[in-house]
Amino acid sequence: MTKFTKAKHKILVTSALPYANGPIHLGHLVEYIQVDIFVRFLRLIEENVLFVCADDTHGAPIEIKASELGITPEKLISQVYDEHVQDFKEFLISFDNYYTTNSPENKFYSDLIFKKLKEKNLIYTKDIEVTYCEHDKRTLPDRYVKGKCPKCNAPDQYGDVCENCNAAYKTIDLIEPYCAICKSKPIRKSSKHYFFRLSKFSKKLESWLKKNRNLQPEIKNFVFNWIKNGLEDWNISRDGPYFGFKIPGEEDKYYYVWLDAPIGYIASTDNYCKNHGLNTEDYWSSKDARIYHFIGKDIIYFHFLFWPAMLLGSGFSLPYHIPVHGFLTVNNEKMSKSRGTFFTAKEFLQKHNAEHLRFYYAGLLSGRMSDIDLNFDDFRKKINNELAANIGNFCYRVLNFLNRYFDGEIKDIDSNKKLLDEIKKLAKNVEKNYYGLNFNEALKSVLHISSLGNKYFQENEPWKLIEKDREKVHKILGLCANIVKDLSILIEPILPDFSLRLQQQLNLRNLKWRDINSELKNHKIGKDEILVKKMEEKKETKREFPLNLKVAKIIEVKEHPNAEKLYILDIDLGNEKRQLVAGIKGYYSADELKNKKIIVVANLKPAKLRGVESKGMLLAGDDGTGPGLLTAEHSNTGDKAYFEGLENGTAQITYEEFAKISMLVKNSKVYFDNKELKTDKEIIRVEKSKDGARVR
Ligand code: 2FM
Ligand code: ZN
Repeated sequence: MTKFTKAKHKILVTSALPYANGPIHLGHLVEYIQVDIFVRFLRLIEENVLFVCADDTHGAPIEIKASELGITPEKLISQVYDEHVQDFKEFLISFDNYYTTNSPENKFYSDLIFKKLKEKNLIYTKDIEVTYCEHDKRTLPDRYVKGKCPKCNAPDQYGDVCENCNAAYKTIDLIEPYCAICKSKPIRKSSKHYFFRLSKFSKKLESWLKKNRNLQPEIKNFVFNWIKNGLEDWNISRDGPYFGFKIPGEEDKYYYVWLDAPIGYIASTDNYCKNHGLNTEDYWSSKDARIYHFIGKDIIYFHFLFWPAMLLGSGFSLPYHIPVHGFLTVNNEKMSKSRGTFFTAKEFLQKHNAEHLRFYYAGLLSGRMSDIDLNFDDFRKKINNELAANIGNFCYRVLNFLNRYFDGEIKDIDSNKKLLDEIKKLAKNVEKNYYGLNFNEALKSVLHISSLGNKYFQENEPWKLIEKDREKVHKILGLCANIVKDLSILIEPILPDFSLRLQQQLNLRNLKWRDINSELKNHKIGKDEILVKKMEEKKETKREFPLNLKVAKIIEVKEHPNAEKLYILDIDLGNEKRQLVAGIKGYYSADELKNKKIIVVANLKPAKLRGVESKGMLLAGDDGTGPGLLTAEHSNTGDKAYFEGLENGTAQITYEEFAKISMLVKNSKVYFDNKELKTDKEIIRVEKSKDGARVR
């Protein structure tokens, strides 16, 4: 086992800061669970470790979303903060500090770093051309300008990369650009921006990468390539309206969110240190500290180039390690709302147990960058065969037997050197693999130990032997109880709650890694209880379709007070009446609309459209020439519209989620996944739209 000398290094561990504009989902949880397992392990081996994180609260999307919702960005990020904290708690993520980037500490460090870089002439200003929407009076960030890809001509591509041909370009290169908010044609405009001289750091970054022996070689290699191809200076400012910190001396310019987001690591540390009588410098300006940044493979550029260059330029310590993990796939495909394979943390908990996900992910996580796959059949098998039938079962039968035959007393331990040595060796392996982030291997060895325990118990047949040699059986159970004790420690990083309950049953608490070596003798355990229940086999249920589609009748059509292209519609949904705002003016007259039976998305998150609340949305085909409504004249108001084999969703969904679902028109019918949209009485028809039109 490790020699437990007093920890020499202060260890700081961070996980990537989640954006404050959406919920935590199963993809995020790969990282938080990974980091939490590592940190809990470090605490068990009595390292001096601090685990910090924060919400990433700045940027255009947050400002735009808040304005759509008619609330302030501060209000939006505070709501999201509470939800994130709750989700992390449910999944037992044990941050020492969970903070926000919209904090005084973060403003302080952002200004400090900016100032230091400026003093060293590492920041300069330059006029650049930006895309500007005169209607919305704003510079449009990448994701808010769309148009045809300059390389392949694919329509409706974002302003930074083409999803069709993967080409990367600038917003001003888009062909026939339009504003994603109001659809009008933007103009080009010149604007002053601040640039960070990343180009000056090639040598220093290269030598840091070379010297650092912890970084994954596969990643180092392509970072070296980026450097070799030449680093460009980095634009670190954004024009208002923007939610962020104002650049000192500027009226309407802000730090780009990616400048202050990683500084949030320092700010969160600082906030913790202030509250606990510690020094931030001991983590961020000391040779003895070790900083670990855990990240996903999508943000390597920021963490291997921009961030270390900023740290180098402003005199802070560089990371000791930046472990990079892959993405989560579900059934070997990208998670997808329309396939019903996208789950938020909350949705997962409606059906499953948080520790089961921790167990499953641990079984797949290695220290490498490869993606991991969630497959629900495999998930159930692993929980049932490994967690329940192996560890859970062994621990329960041992404690139950002890209580039943020996009144819970452990006296002596059977001397079975071979078994004890084997367990020691496996435990050593568990330790090594937790250290190396190979949790899959660590878990394999833990499971191996409990199968050895099960085998030993089974082969000795204590339930028979008790008649002949009660003393021997007592010793056998003593050995088994010691294996249970060891398992409770070995599995704790992965299953902290299971371990806590198991230690309670053992009448022990707060065991550390070093207790794996100690012998538990002359001890009375507590009450035994079943620790893990098997998951039931899922009966084949219908797959879920995230939209809740219904037939609605239009009862009233009103003008919108602030928008030329919008109508306000009163609709009847059978058991309720609602108001919708729809952009179909100019294509349908009020008379044409009245009494029409249309299809609406009933579970869309209510939103204000130009100041008027819309509860839901009507569906129309759009082939570029204008909308054509989906109609259901032979159905009843309130009837369900659906695709065969798919259950309509009930959870509320956002517009962004809706926008990812691809329903298309063919022969005046609506298709999703080769199925046509219908009610129990008819097939839904689409007016006007040509084949291939999108439904939205
Ligand atoms: O990619 C993301 O989700 C970012 N919010 C991560 C930020 S990590 C750090 F640099 F702040
Ligand atoms: Zn616009």
